[in-house]
Amino acid sequence: MQIDRIWTNARLATMTGEGLGVVENGALACAAGRIVHAGPADTLPPAPGAERIDCAGRWITPGLIDCHTHLIHMGNRAREFEMRLQGASYEEIARAGGGIVSTMRATRAASEDELVAAALPRLDALLAEGVTTIEIKSGYGLDAPSELAMLSAARRLGRERGVTVRATFLGAHALPPEYQGNPDGYIAMLCDDLIPRVAAEGLADAVDGFCEGIGFTPAQIERMFTAARAAGLPVKLHAEQLSNLHGAALAARFGALSADHLEYLDQAGVAAMAEAGTVAVLLPGAYYFVRETQLPPVDALRRAGVPIALATDCNPGTSPLTSLLLTMNMGATLFRLTVDECLRGVTRNAARALGMANEVGTLEPGKRCDLAIWDIGHPAELVYRMGFNPLHARVRSGQ
Ligand code: NIG
Ligand code: FE
Repeated sequence: MQIDRIWTNARLATMTGEGLGVVENGALACAAGRIVHAGPADTLPPAPGAERIDCAGRWITPGLIDCHTHLIHMGNRAREFEMRLQGASYEEIARAGGGIVSTMRATRAASEDELVAAALPRLDALLAEGVTTIEIKSGYGLDAPSELAMLSAARRLGRERGVTVRATFLGAHALPPEYQGNPDGYIAMLCDDLIPRVAAEGLADAVDGFCEGIGFTPAQIERMFTAARAAGLPVKLHAEQLSNLHGAALAARFGALSADHLEYLDQAGVAAMAEAGTVAVLLPGAYYFVRETQLPPVDALRRAGVPIALATDCNPGTSPLTSLLLTMNMGATLFRLTVDECLRGVTRNAARALGMANEVGTLEPGKRCDLAIWDIGHPAELVYRMGFNPLHARVRSGQ
């Protein structure tokens, strides 16, 4: 095996095992884009001819993973934000024709090129903080042409920047106006037409939905999950964000990769997720931005051994957030997650929420050589600071 590049004089947070998997006096070696050594410098295999990079004592973590975003969307909802400041609720605005449907109008009017161009600055903000893998959802098109355009824009973003993109089909995000009064008709269109098409064209890696009073009922979500399964696509779900419709337990029954938000999750939902190995993706940016007061049941998730991930939920309505570092700070401050839990939430557990646990998320031989190299004295600084970016370098596939 020909080692191409080695990073020496580094401290590693490998994110393996229980804690951070710290290696002082560490070194990391890469061959053909894969990690071949991540451990003590004195066990580094000989690497004649390899490029050597001296890290001068800096810390290396796995490249960060943002496992829940609505990065592609047109326009913004700053006016709604102002309405909410004056007392209107997120649900009231949605029911009055604002909310997701207002972003849908702007998104439908855009070409695929425009979708890509609008998302790039947001993507770049995330990449500047060491993100190497990102999930991007559709769900602002809500008709065939625009949903397909969003998914293909997501794939293009991955090609235009050095980042791994997981595209998620979120057709069941909101009811589009042309199906007003006929949500079952819309779900039937998703199941019979769009999901099979998206799967056949390889445009999506998973199927998601919004199970909520202002979204879709558990019965409608179940129909859609059945269609996803038939098409060979894994599922995930926006569940228990504003109320408890037992969406997480439904998702768990379908072996979901993740159930996301979860402020109103109950004990039965926690147990179902633990049983199925479904990751709890917590979204403190949305919790903060809608001034939610119901906390997700973090202790119950911990006790049950449900893996916890953290993500930005970057979207124009409830979380216009493009910092995974700030997301970790919010996870700690608002949800009382530990530093280790926050870091695991944007690396190893985020990888699992995307079905990529064998590929990324830890520093281990065989994984893709996706790294973030930080100018910090200790990993706790990554969670502690607000609005400061200590990234020294970002490495994707060893480059
Ligand atoms: O994750 N909950 C539904 N979807 C988004 C909000 C989308 C929007 O308001 O535009 C969320 O919070
Ligand atoms: Fe979301």
